[in-house]
Amino acid sequence: SLLDVIVDNDLPLDGYGACEGTLACCTCHVILSKEHFDRVDKTNPAGEEELDMLDLAPELSDYSRLGCQIR
Ligand code: FES
Repeated sequence: SLLDVIVDNDLPLDGYGACEGTLACCTCHVILSKEHFDRVDKTNPAGEEELDMLDLAPELSDYSRLGCQIR
């Protein structure tokens, strides 16, 4: 997942992915470009649990996803 890429590369994003991908936070919220969102949505659409958690994300966008769910 995108979260794995960030963790595996020790990217300095403090607090990102606090629940380690268990869909219990929205700290991994990302806003994609329309092009990337459409591509991800085709192969890996958001499930109900992700959509519910996204409702709690600050600055929610039409192109929002949770990084831990993007594969
Ligand atoms: Fe918590 Fe993605 S890391 S929902």
